[in-house]
Parts: sequence; C-alpha cells; structure tokens
Amino acid sequence: MFFFVTLFYQNNLFLALPFYCKFYMNQLQVTVNQVFNNNFNQKPIIIRSPGRVNLIGEHTDYNGGFVLPAATDKAAFLAIYPSNLKTGKWISVDMKESVEIDFTDLKPQINHHWANYILGIIQQYENRGLKVPPFNCVLAGDIPIGSGMSSSAALESAVGYALNELYNFGIDKKSLAKLVQQAENEFIGVKCGIMDMFASIHGKENNVMLLNCETLDFEYFPLNLGDYKIVLFDTGIKHNLVESEYNLRRFQCEEGLSFFRKHFGESVQNLSQVPLSWLQSSRSQLDPIVYHRCQYVIEENQRILAACEDLQAGRLNDFGIKMTATHEGLRNLYEVSCPELDFLVDTVWHEKSVLGSRMMGGGFGGCTINLIKSQAIDELYARLSISYENKTGINLKMYSVVTANGTETVMTA
Ligand code: GLA
Repeated sequence: MFFFVTLFYQNNLFLALPFYCKFYMNQLQVTVNQVFNNNFNQKPIIIRSPGRVNLIGEHTDYNGGFVLPAATDKAAFLAIYPSNLKTGKWISVDMKESVEIDFTDLKPQINHHWANYILGIIQQYENRGLKVPPFNCVLAGDIPIGSGMSSSAALESAVGYALNELYNFGIDKKSLAKLVQQAENEFIGVKCGIMDMFASIHGKENNVMLLNCETLDFEYFPLNLGDYKIVLFDTGIKHNLVESEYNLRRFQCEEGLSFFRKHFGESVQNLSQVPLSWLQSSRSQLDPIVYHRCQYVIEENQRILAACEDLQAGRLNDFGIKMTATHEGLRNLYEVSCPELDFLVDTVWHEKSVLGSRMMGGGFGGCTINLIKSQAIDELYARLSISYENKTGINLKMYSVVTANGTETVMTA
C-alpha cells in the first residue's frame, strides 16, 4: 500500500500497479504460475474458481427448489495455455502428480482421478460440437477436499470457464453451469444437482444468492450478519455411503413426484411445487419413507423462502432457528446426517453465541455451517475441539468463511 500511495503521488500509476497486484496476489496464483513457467516456458492464463457454502436449502436443488449459497475465498487455481503438440501435460500441485494426455485418444484416467474432472468438461464441449485443442495446465487449491465445500465443482468450473475463454466458445454463465453439472453427472457419475457449480460460477463478494433451481433465475442479497460470522466445523470424515445414499434420495423423491403427477396432474414439474396439503392427504397411499423424504423437501423449500425474508429484514435469530430446523429435517426425515455431524450441531446450537447450526451439503460427513458471534468463536472452538476429539478421536478443523466473487480470470497471458 505504501508503494502504491507513494508512486501514485508521483503520478506514475503504471509503476505502482504491479507492486500493488503482486503484494495482494494469492499465493496459489503465484504457485500455479511458477510451476507452469518452469514446465512449459509459456505465459498461461490463470483462472480462480471458488468453493461454496450454502446457508439454507439442502437437497432442494435436484427437486427444482431454492438454495441460498455463496462463493468462498477458498478456491481452485488453474494456469492453462494451448499446447503446440498433439498431447497436453496436466499437473496437480496438491496431488504431486502429472499426467500426459493424448488428445487423439481421450479416455478416463484410472490412476489420476483428478484428471477426470478435466476430461469430463472436454467431453461436454465436444458433445456440443466444440472441438477442444490440446492444452497444458497446472492446478492447485485450498478448498478442503471432502469438506462439502465443493472442491470438484470449483475445479470443473475453472476448466469449463478457461476453455470458453481460450477458445472463444461463446458459452454464457448459466449454460456453463449446466455443462459442468452434466460433466459431473455423466463422466464422474455423481448425480448432483446444479447448486455447487452455479454458486462457484456466479458468486459475488459479500452476497448470497437465492437461486431457483428449476428456472435458474437468481437474485443476490447482501449478507449483513452484523456481529456474527459464518463458521464451518469439519467432521474430518466422509462416509462411503454418500454417493449411493445420495442417488437413493433422488430416486425416492422421483417416486414421490410420479405419485403426485399421477394423482394431482401432470403439470407438476417437481417436488418443490407440491403443496403440503397434497402430501398430507396422501399419507396412507405413500410408502412411509417416501412420505418423509417428500415432507422434508416441501417443508425445506418453504423454510428457505421465509429464511430469506428474515435475512433481508435483519431477523438473524429467526434465520438461525430455521437453519437448525433444517438440520432436524435432514436428520429425522431425510436421514442424511451422521453421528459426527449430529454431535457438532447438538453441542453448539443452544449456545448463546450461536444463532443456528446445521449440516451442510450432501451429508454423511463434511462440515456443519454455523452462525456464531465473532468474539465467541475462538473460545467455542477450543471447547468443541476437546469434546469432539474425546468423542471421535478426530482433530476438529474450523474454517471461518469469507464470501468472494465467482469464477474469473485473474491473469491473462
Ligand atoms: C451435494 C450436491 C448438491 C446438492 C447438495 C445437497 O453438495 O452436489 O447438488 O444436492 O449435495 O443440497
């Protein structure tokens, strides 16, 4: 800042800016740039693509409902540039691995799973008739893997965004989010909804977005939390149930939807459009498990809209109560929580300094998201780490969330 001010006063803004940028350049950006230069002797473009948190609205995205996510300062960085060969070399700094890709014979990488996230995006472009020429790239990131902050969506969004920029494919941001979701669904085989990539691509610093996952219409809301902060507690586990149970929940919701379409009319497009009264009047005809899944989704979708009004009106207490109600629904009706998540929520939600607490993301591990009074965070974390370690033997990690802009170019070649 000192350099900037001094040189600005000397009327030499051109000299000042590089100092200013370098001073504030993210370390990961420096790393991917250096590794790229060392390996390819070329100047890459660099893309930053954030992870996400979701304040409320869980398991609603693939049911055509609402979600309320924000992009975070934890992000994936990608340095990338076309290669002059028929092959491309891809390097993952975090995995300490590199892989040579033959662009005349693109196939899944069994030993380098991370490379499949890139291949999935190439496949989607090519399915749209957009040929992707060979390229070299370097990746690094600080989104904790398995924490439920969507590190894979961030990486896929970075690659999708970069190829669109490098080869002028002319894909708009909403279509890019759909393309990334399709890559994850078809190449990786995870039947996720659109929330993660949409939030990563469309994030806006200091804002959350209310996204209608059926229409993809969305609105930003300034995140005014006053004295409170968003804090994540990381269970440090990912139960291997996560994918099979996720797909099973989707299936059960589809079963519920086809029941309502059959009995109440084909015009219902998704479960989020079903009124609670239809559900209640159908209790005896629905499988009890399907009934509970539908109940959770319908209630959650109503809760998120009410929670959004609370947030706008500054009723933070009410917002927090709804977050905790979401956890109860996810635990008892949707059954995607686990003992570690429940322990973290149960231990903190009644604390005076905590507005709300719930599991975040797909479930069966990952993080809880909490709204905690700033001054109380360190003391609460210290206490919680001890009790969590006593209970599980796991060292509890905490991330204080700062919102950030969505996927963007941070350095041009
Ligand atoms: C995962 C999926 C999202 C969403 C959440 C649950 O994070 O990737 O699409 O379904 O679970 O809300």
